[in-house]
Amino acid sequence: NQSVGFVGWRGMVGSVLMQRMRDENDFAALNPVFFSTSNAGGKAPEWAGGGELKDAYDIDTLKSLPVIVTAQGGDYTTAVYGKLREAGWKGYWIDAASTLRMDPETIIVLDPVNRNVIDSALSKGVVSFAGGNCTVSCMLMGMAGLFKAGLVEWMTSMTYQAASGGGAQHMRELLTQFGLINGQVKGLLDDPASAILEIDRGVLDLQRSGQLPQEHFGVPLAGNLIPWIDKDMENGVSREEWKGGVETNKILGRGDGFDVPAIPIDGLCVRIGAMRCHSQALTIKLTKDVPLDEINDMIAQGTDWAKVVPNTKEASMKDLTPVAVTGTLDIPVGRMRKLLMGPQYLSAFTVGDQLLWGAAEPLRRMLNIVLK
Ligand code: HSE
Repeated sequence: NQSVGFVGWRGMVGSVLMQRMRDENDFAALNPVFFSTSNAGGKAPEWAGGGELKDAYDIDTLKSLPVIVTAQGGDYTTAVYGKLREAGWKGYWIDAASTLRMDPETIIVLDPVNRNVIDSALSKGVVSFAGGNCTVSCMLMGMAGLFKAGLVEWMTSMTYQAASGGGAQHMRELLTQFGLINGQVKGLLDDPASAILEIDRGVLDLQRSGQLPQEHFGVPLAGNLIPWIDKDMENGVSREEWKGGVETNKILGRGDGFDVPAIPIDGLCVRIGAMRCHSQALTIKLTKDVPLDEINDMIAQGTDWAKVVPNTKEASMKDLTPVAVTGTLDIPVGRMRKLLMGPQYLSAFTVGDQLLWGAAEPLRRMLNIVLK
C-alpha cells in the first residue's frame, strides 16, 4: 500500500471526504498519514488506526510521501506547494482549493466528465490536480451529456448558492440569523389575529438594525439574498462568475492551452439561504435544434449520476430541490423545455450537493486513479 498524506481532513470539506472514503472502503488500499496545521504531535483519528499527527508545514515530512491530498484551503496551498516543489518533490498533489486550478501545470479533475483530459495529463507526467469550483462541478455532472454531444453553443448560469459554499461558519451564521428573526416576531406569529405587515416590519427592522450576526456574509442572508459571490474582479464580474467560464472550459479541455476553442459560459452568481446544495438555472443555446426527448436521453446518459426530472410541478417540487438532494450524489436536471426565443434555446435547472460532487467526491476519485 502507498502512503497518502492528508491535510485539512478535519474541516467541513475534509470531513465529508473522510466519510466518503470510509463509506467506500478507500482506506483499505492506502496508508494514511494525517497532518495538522495546529496540533502536530496530537492524535490521528482512531478509525484510521490512531498514530501521531504530523506537522503540515514540515516540508521534509511532506516530501517523503508519494501522494498528498489537501482540503486545508488556499492559504495553505500558497504557503506550502511552491516550497515543496522547490525542494524537489515529484509526488501527486490533490487539492480542493482554487489556488492552483488555472495554473497551466494543474489539471482540474472531474473524472466522470474529463477522464480523457486526466489520462492524457497523467501520461505526460502531470502531478498537480485540483477539484473544480463547486458550482462548476455540480453543473457539469448534470449537463455533461450535452457538452459531450457538442450541442452547447453557449450557456448562461444563474446560480442559487448555499451557505456552505462560504464555509462552516457561514452555515452557523445563517441559522443563527433565522433563529433570531423568528424570535423577534414569535409573539405575533403565534397570534393568528396579528397583522402580517406588522410581522414583516418586525423582521425588516431586525434585518436592518445591524443586530444580526453578519461577520461572515457581511449582510443578513436569512430572509434575503446576496447577488455577489467571492472577490470583485473589478470589471463588473465576480470571481465566482469568472470561474464558471474558465474552469468549465478547462475541465472540458477547451480554450487556453487546448486545441478547441472555449464555449462562452457566463451568468450571475447569487447566494441564497439554502444549506449545502447549489442550484442553477441554465439557458443553453444549442448548436442545432434537437428534440427534447433526445436531449433528455443525452443528459441521462451523460454521467451515471445525472437524473432527468420530468418537467412537472409535482416532480420539480419533490425531486429538484436542495432538501431533496442534500447528502446524495445524484445530480437531478429538470425544468427542461424549449424557450420562447426559439427551438435552439433550452432551459434547465439543476441541483447538486456542494460538499459531495462540489468538493470531496472528485478528489477521492482522483486519489483512486493515481493509486491504481
Ligand atoms: N465559491 C463557492 C461558493 C465555494 O462560495 O459557493 C465552492 O467552490
